[in-house]
Amino acid sequence: MTHALQPAHPDITEEMWSKITTVIADNKGKPGSIITVLRECQDIVGYLPVQLMDFISAGMNLPSSEVFGVASFYALFSMQPKGRHLIKLCMGTACYVKGIKESLVRIKNRYQLEEGSTSEDRRFSLEAVRCLGACGLAPVMVVDADTHGAISSDTVLDVLDRYE
Ligand code: FES
Repeated sequence: MTHALQPAHPDITEEMWSKITTVIADNKGKPGSIITVLRECQDIVGYLPVQLMDFISAGMNLPSSEVFGVASFYALFSMQPKGRHLIKLCMGTACYVKGIKESLVRIKNRYQLEEGSTSEDRRFSLEAVRCLGACGLAPVMVVDADTHGAISSDTVLDVLDRYE
């Protein structure tokens, strides 16, 4: 069923809208429930598109500034779609002095990525992080659950080629 205020969005199916509407109805009017609503809606869609947050704000009868404020305050919320694979590049001291910056530049150029963003084709999301606790393997890159040590600007793209 289509709901009056429900906008069209390529990442949100009819079934998702229906679940979202239920989440809002279950929480409307409960003090402090906006975090629960945002978390459950993010679980449904995978991230929080602007149109979804507008829909939540209208449904919960809360100012959109409040909804956007909560979503941007907590690191657990993402307003950007996530890639199929998450690349974490360590910018800690051991990795930095061994030249990880050059690998970062390589990745950015190849996939048109910025730190904290997702590639156009949603293949990769990129994060620059602090020490990953594997300094003996520096420079270190983690892709999903895989740790890759001793990466260099010559090898880093070959490693990423393995992740479709
Ligand atoms: S500095 Fe990179 S793993 Fe510790």
